[in-house]
Amino acid sequence: MSRCFLPLLLLSVLAVSNAILQGTVDVKRLQGILEEGVKSKDISTLYYSLKGLKQLNAKIPDVCDVIKNTKYDLKNIEQIFHLTNAADLSGCQNSLKPDVLSAPTQVLDKKDATIPDLYHAVYTLKALGKGSVYDKEDSLKNLIQLLKKDDSPANYGYVFALCEHIGCAAWTATHAESALLAADETDGRSLHFDGGLPVTSLVLSTVIRTFKTLGKPSPLSMEQRYKFGAYVLSRRSVTSPRGAALLLDAAAALAGDQPTPISIVFKDKKFITSDSDSIEFSVTDLIGRPIPNLKPDEVIAQSGTRLADDVVVLSKQPLTQKSNEPTTFILNLSKIKSQHGLYKISLSAGTKSANFNIAVLGEIQVSSIEVGIGDVDGTTSPKITTVTYPNRLTEKLQADHLQKVTLKFTVRDKWNKPVVVQQAFVRIAPANAPHEAIYVAEPDAAGTYKVELNVGAMSAHLRHSGGAHELSVLLGDSAVAAPLAWTLGDLVLNFARNHAVGAFALPLLSPRWTSLEGQRLGRVGPVLARGRLSMGRQHRLVY
Ligand SMILES: *[C@@H]1O[C@H](CO)[C@@H](O)[C@H](O)[C@H]1NC(C)=O
Repeated sequence: MSRCFLPLLLLSVLAVSNAILQGTVDVKRLQGILEEGVKSKDISTLYYSLKGLKQLNAKIPDVCDVIKNTKYDLKNIEQIFHLTNAADLSGCQNSLKPDVLSAPTQVLDKKDATIPDLYHAVYTLKALGKGSVYDKEDSLKNLIQLLKKDDSPANYGYVFALCEHIGCAAWTATHAESALLAADETDGRSLHFDGGLPVTSLVLSTVIRTFKTLGKPSPLSMEQRYKFGAYVLSRRSVTSPRGAALLLDAAAALAGDQPTPISIVFKDKKFITSDSDSIEFSVTDLIGRPIPNLKPDEVIAQSGTRLADDVVVLSKQPLTQKSNEPTTFILNLSKIKSQHGLYKISLSAGTKSANFNIAVLGEIQVSSIEVGIGDVDGTTSPKITTVTYPNRLTEKLQADHLQKVTLKFTVRDKWNKPVVVQQAFVRIAPANAPHEAIYVAEPDAAGTYKVELNVGAMSAHLRHSGGAHELSVLLGDSAVAAPLAWTLGDLVLNFARNHAVGAFALPLLSPRWTSLEGQRLGRVGPVLARGRLSMGRQHRLVY
C-alpha cells in the first residue's frame, strides 16, 4: 500500500510566564557564522566575528593583511574603533598606520562629543595600548552631565563600559539597579532594553562583569534573569556575525551569573513506546553547560496529566541523572506505557517549573475481520468470510447493486484491550485507476467497528465503473506508533446500468457513510488528526 498515512504528532511546548527556559543558544551554529564572518573584508563584520570567536576561545585566523589594506575614514570614530579593536583581538596592531591615533584624540578634544563617541574613542586608545588620557573624576562628571541630557539605556551601557576602563566601577554599582529597571517587558515574560539586542547585550555584560570584578552579588533579581534569558532565546536565530557576537555576549553574561537561569529541553524524542519507556531532557544553562550546584534530586516531574480527560497519572517523580552525562536527566514513564495518549508533564528544577507535552504511543492490532455480502433489504442472511491478519481473502468477493458489503472488526492494543482510534477508514479502489472511495468507520459502544456499504450508493463514488476493486482497512491515531494498512483482497462490483439515485435504497444506508472520493488519504489523515471531522453519529464531508 503506497499511500500510507502517518499519525500527526502535535506536540507543543507551552510557554509559562517566569518559568524555566525552554531552549538554549546554539553555540556551534553561532561559531559557524563567526568563522564565515572572519573571512570578510568589511571591517565591522571582521571586528564582530573576532570578538565572538574570542568570547568562545576559538582559534583566531591571520587577518593582518585585511587590516593592513582596509580603507578608513578618520572622521568615523566607530569605524576606527572597529579597525583598531579588530587589530587588537587578532594581534595585528603592527598592521595599523600611525594616523589612526589622531581619530580618538580629535574626539576627546571636541566640546560636543556624545557618549557613544567617547566610548569609541577611549576604547580605540585602549586597543592601541595608550590607556586613558582622561582624568577619572572629571571624566565621570562630564559623563554624568551628558547622561542628564540623554539617559537612554544605550548611554548607560556605554558609561558602564567606560567606567570599567577609567575606574568608576563603584558608580556603576550604585546605578545598575535603576538602569535595569528601565528595561521594557514583553507579554509579561521577556525583558529587553530599548535598542534591542545590541543595547541589552551591552548593559547586561557590563553590569554583570563589573559586579563580578567588585566581588559583589549580582544586582539582577531571579525574575530579571529569566526574563532577559527569554529575550535572548527569542533572538537566537540571528544570522549575521554582529548578531552572533552580541547574542553570545549576552547569553554568556547571563549564563555566568549565578544562580543562572535554567533551561530544560527535550534531548531528542518526545514520546515513549512499549519498547522505550523513558524520555531524556537536557537541563543546562543558556549556553548548554551543566547547572552548578543543582542536585540531581532537584529535577522532578511534579505532575503528569492525560490531556484527553485531565486524569493525573504521576506526581512528584524525580528524574535520574544519566551517568557520565551531567546535563541529561531521564524521566521513566514505564508506569503509563500501556496507556496511550497525550500527556502534559510539569517539570521543576529548584523553584521553577515548565510544562512539556509528550505522547505515549501505543501499538494497534486487528487479529481478524469479518467481511459479509448480503442483500440490502436484509431478506436473506449474509455470506460471511473471516480473514486473519495479515492474510488476504482466498477468493474474490462478488457484490451487485442490490447488495451491501459489511465489515466487522475490533482494534486492540498491545495488551489485547479494545481501543478506539482517531482514524479508521475502509478504502475501495480499482486496481489501476486513480480514483478511490474512502469511508469512515465508526465503533459501537462496545468498541467494535461495524461497516455497511451499500454497493448501489458506491457506484457514484467510483465513477460507475464496476469490476475488480481492492478492499483495504486503514487505521491510525496520533498516539499510535505505527498506522495499520491492511489490504483484505479483491471485491468485484457489479453496478446496474441505471444510475439514477432514487433507484436504490439510499435513505436506509447513506446517512451512515460519507464518501471522500478522490481525496488522497495523505490529506485526510492530518485533517482528522486536527479534529476537524466530526466523529459523531453523522459523518460529515471533509470538504
Ligand atoms: C524504568 O522503570 C522500570 C520499572 O521500574 C524499569 O524496569 C526500566 O528498566 C526503567 N527504564 C530505564 C530506561 O531505566
